Amino acid sequence: MFKILCISGSLRPTSSNTNILKAIPQLAEWPDISFSIYEGLDQLPYFSPELDFEGATPAATVADLRAQLSEADAVIVCTPEYAFGIPGVLKNALDWIVSSGEFVDKPTAVISASPMMTGGDKANASLVQTLKVLTATIKDDRILTIPTVRTKIDAAGNITDDILKADLVKIVTSLKSPV
Ligand SMILES: Cc1cc2nc3c(=O)[nH]c(=O)nc-3n(C[C@H](O)[C@H](O)[C@H](O)COP(=O)(O)O)c2cc1C
Repeated sequence: MFKILCISGSLRPTSSNTNILKAIPQLAEWPDISFSIYEGLDQLPYFSPELDFEGATPAATVADLRAQLSEADAVIVCTPEYAFGIPGVLKNALDWIVSSGEFVDKPTAVISASPMMTGGDKANASLVQTLKVLTATIKDDRILTIPTVRTKIDAAGNITDDILKADLVKIVTSLKSPV
């Protein structure tokens, strides 16, 4: 089974970004792929290098994030943009991975969704940059901005836009393909 870990940058229970991640498994028949959603973003301690030295015992929540990333064959991050950047909770989580290295060579997709026409493009670019520093494997066909997202998802969280559905299927296919 090919394991894909999905991380939403939004903590909102009705988040468009989380809804997109929840909808992906239903977009095609993927008998050999398992999808899981990381739930612990708001449980992580604030990152400080003082807590993250060689030989330190990480907080249980940090160890859990690292274990989930380590077990994943690929990762999809889907995030809103706040004030032209990525949400602080998401950056905090990524900072915990700099030293431990679970993103090294990990096929990773970067998606941003926004009610605005820009699709969260600045957060998307910033996230790509950060994940490239962590040496995740990001190809152009694994990067997607989703403008006017609220016109593309219904009240129940289902994706109603056929182009978006096809784009997401292409991303999953790319993650599973050899580099
Ligand atoms: C503090 C704050 C700042 C925001 N800044 C931006 C922004 O810079 N760009 C943008 O496209 N949307 C911005 N938004 C709107 C978010 O895109 C919108 O709330 C979106 O629905 C959040 O994603 P979610 O539904 O997954 O929680 C901002 C929202 C908040 C609350």
